[in-house]
Amino acid sequence: MIQEKINQYTEEINVFPGGDAAAVEAFRIKYLGTRGLIKDLFDEFKSATPEEKRSLGKVLNEFKKLAEEKYQAVKERSETGGPAQTDLPDLTLPGESLVEGARHPLQLVRKEIVEIFKKLGFTVAEGPEIEDDWHNFTALNFPLEHPARDMQDTFFIRKGGNDIALRTHTSSVQVRMMESGKPPFRAIMPGRVYRNEAISARAHCFFHQVEGLYVDENVSFADLKQTLYYFVQELYGEGTKVRFRPSYFPFTEPSAEMDVSCSICKGAGCQMCKYSGWVEILGCGMVDPNVLENCGIDSNVYTGFAFGMGIERITNLKYEIRDLRLFSENDVRFLKQFGTEIV
Ligand code: DAH
Repeated sequence: MIQEKINQYTEEINVFPGGDAAAVEAFRIKYLGTRGLIKDLFDEFKSATPEEKRSLGKVLNEFKKLAEEKYQAVKERSETGGPAQTDLPDLTLPGESLVEGARHPLQLVRKEIVEIFKKLGFTVAEGPEIEDDWHNFTALNFPLEHPARDMQDTFFIRKGGNDIALRTHTSSVQVRMMESGKPPFRAIMPGRVYRNEAISARAHCFFHQVEGLYVDENVSFADLKQTLYYFVQELYGEGTKVRFRPSYFPFTEPSAEMDVSCSICKGAGCQMCKYSGWVEILGCGMVDPNVLENCGIDSNVYTGFAFGMGIERITNLKYEIRDLRLFSENDVRFLKQFGTEIV
């Protein structure tokens, strides 16, 4: 009985909005007065069984405290002329200030890369992050037993006859583009990629790449070199040196990796370039005729080049960031250091 009354009164007290001095005094008399409801509750308590007393004593005292505190609060408000408490927020209070965010450095660098290639007439294309084996591997001329298909590197969503996985590189978008259109192609394809790597300062299970593809009649390795040379001068400034080292990718032949002279020490040697003066920023090559044929393009008529770069790598080099994990922590103190430009 006492408990039920307490529940009911508590609810009433909680929604009591306060008001002028008379309303507040009426509240006091009703609950806290010498003949008020709390006095009645304590009278009733006296005749409770010892067992009831044990559990109710504390509840009753807490309830009394609640009524007193509410009384104090509404009394103060009525005396200082503040508004009555209602369900509406107090519109006279100062608002919460909005903290301004910042562009993510990866987004800024991605934009910068896109802008440079746009000047050369490249369009921008995107593809899905969930890919099938054909677009991520087979069409790109990966031998069946290639280790990159292994569970070690690839996050498989469904493994079996037609594997479904998180794409391990943006090269899959090349395939989609060539399959669904007709040459010439001249596009860059930025996006997020995934690899099954333990997270550390130097590796992450997801990162970002920009893929490039140029297919037309008479495209040569010289075109590849000139395009990438222009890109590097724009990105890192006039006078930045480049060098190409022979390499291997299943989808290009010949293949190369491109280094730029370290933009931090200008080639003198520092921690970033491991004291070599050079940093590798991308892989590239002439599109393998098998890849063109896999996408329905006549490799006797068309040739092309492709390249792929990691946005994190380029960003690290630009801003001297040494820990990849910073990019996904969303710490606004980190993010704010790269400018607040809203585009
Ligand atoms: N897909 C490669 C990777 O993720 C990068 C790459 C290398 C892309 C050479 C290309 C290329 O288009 O020609 O490591």
